Amino acid sequence: MSATTRKQGRITVPEIRARKGAEPVVCLTAYTTPMAQRLDEHCDLLLVGDSLGMVVYGMESTLAVTVDMMINHGKAVMRGSSNACVVVDLPFGSYQESKEQAFRTASRILAETGCAGVKLEGGAELADTIAFLSQRGIPVVAHIGLMPQQVNTMGGFKSQGRGDDAAAKVLADAKAVAQAGAFSVVVEGTVEAVARRITTEIDIPTIGIGASVACDGQVLVTEDILGMFSDFTPKFVKRYANLGDQISKAVESYATEVRTRQFPTDDHCFGVTKPGKLRAVK
Ligand code: KIV
Repeated sequence: MSATTRKQGRITVPEIRARKGAEPVVCLTAYTTPMAQRLDEHCDLLLVGDSLGMVVYGMESTLAVTVDMMINHGKAVMRGSSNACVVVDLPFGSYQESKEQAFRTASRILAETGCAGVKLEGGAELADTIAFLSQRGIPVVAHIGLMPQQVNTMGGFKSQGRGDDAAAKVLADAKAVAQAGAFSVVVEGTVEAVARRITTEIDIPTIGIGASVACDGQVLVTEDILGMFSDFTPKFVKRYANLGDQISKAVESYATEVRTRQFPTDDHCFGVTKPGKLRAVK
């Protein structure tokens, strides 16, 4: 069911889950209310990704993102949306220690933001945690393949699934998270044939990013597709607009007009009756 033809109310977790092998799930990241307002009618799923650390805060990785940051941005996205299912990332260090720690973090995020579920990075090693959360009322999106929170152990942001052993590992991770009860899985930066195979071999929707068109849905970072984040553009990003350049041009025009006193004009001032003549304001 597309975002534009469905009934009123938010798309639910079971509705996303039911999209396996059906109409592709449209997902984008959102971090703020105004952006969520723009994306909401077109997206099935809005992800408040911890990529916000890099995209919004200029950090070099996602590792320093905190739970409080995720909650504040999660609330902002909930305020700006009424159609999409909203999922918030669990940041690094807030869930890996134990399933109990994961439950405490995830339940706080659900309670304080009103979002529908959480996403966490990890495969077979986090299957117990995913089962613990999903059996206790916390819907989980898993995230396998390239896992940005593991940038240090992976030695950089490197594509995954190259070679038989690596491909078998990503496939095993996919099966483990599906078996554990995740309602969907993000497959990032993974060799196309591996992502395609995963999609045919598990029964939950795969959401690809740098993966395969065969996935059950796609996600990208919104600022990347809009050309607003130019520090680094991964191979898998397609730019649909160049808003960064438009912003620069608009700000340049504003700065010129302020410096040359072309702005503000009388139209932007209060109490002006005739050009250049001020009326007393009561
Ligand atoms: O943090 C994020 O935004 C993500 C998506 C890019 C999948 O994990």
